[in-house]
Amino acid sequence: MNIKEVQDEIIRLKKENDICILAHSYQAHEIIEVADFTGDSYALSKMAAGVSNKTVIMCGVRFMAETVKMLSPEKKVILSSPIAGCPMAEQMDKDMIQQIKEKYPDHTVVAYINTTAQLKTVCDVCVTSASAVKIVSALENENILFIPDCNLGAYVAAKIPDKKIMLLKGGCPVHAAVKKTDAENAKRLHPDAELLVHPECIPAVTELADYVGSTSGIMKYARESDKKEFIIGTENSIAEHLQYECPDKKFYLLSKGLICENMKSTTLVDVLNCVKGCGGEEIIMDAQTIAEARKCIDKMIELGG
Ligand code: 13P
Ligand code: SF4
Repeated sequence: MNIKEVQDEIIRLKKENDICILAHSYQAHEIIEVADFTGDSYALSKMAAGVSNKTVIMCGVRFMAETVKMLSPEKKVILSSPIAGCPMAEQMDKDMIQQIKEKYPDHTVVAYINTTAQLKTVCDVCVTSASAVKIVSALENENILFIPDCNLGAYVAAKIPDKKIMLLKGGCPVHAAVKKTDAENAKRLHPDAELLVHPECIPAVTELADYVGSTSGIMKYARESDKKEFIIGTENSIAEHLQYECPDKKFYLLSKGLICENMKSTTLVDVLNCVKGCGGEEIIMDAQTIAEARKCIDKMIELGG
């Protein structure tokens, strides 16, 4: 079978079996073409709450599939690539955060959605890169413990100086590896290009950017801008998707190293096997974990709008 035939078979089987395919924007082009919905972590969470199909296949990483399961516990939720974890989500665990909470009981614990379901059970509210500033601003408490991404946390803290935001040392190994010199070199090579970066990058990089936002935010900005050239500072698939979508514009990579192996571990054949019912991993979560962990997802949706 060629790619088109595999895609046609996926589309046929997902309809026949009442399956919805959700894909994060970092997925490959041929997967996005067969998805029912593509977006950033926030858009996917909101979409997950309203899906009517009895099975959902998540082409992304584990915490995204867990979020779908929490929001739709009655559905069968399949993670298309069982090895697709997010290293940042594993950096902090429930016991560690519980100990810190005991030391700082007056702090509201804000968790980036890139966390495990277990960790979410001890957090107050979740955020995504698209919603973090809005949600933290809306919290009454001025004392915030922001976990696990200290780079996103520093970005939020700079935007909301009236909050006292405590950060721990965690973050995305892919985005945090981009150096200030990468941004300086890219700007020197492409002096007419705007620099668009994800807030998971270090402050020395986000400070040089013309726009800082989520994956969907970066795509929207580039699509709608009158400018013709952009340096893309997030997973390199975003520059590729934008180049397909906007052939009259030029997209450059901030760094060749901006590749998330976990996001890229899903193949079209994985998706085919999932719709056939013989691939991926079904997300199984007990009712108590779902009940405890989804509170902070519900709060995110309530405050994020
Ligand atoms: P967003 O989809 O929220 O931009 O986050 C990107 C990311 O790190 C997904 O793992
Ligand atoms: Fe996790 Fe970073 Fe990959 Fe996103 S890009 S899934 S934060 S490792």
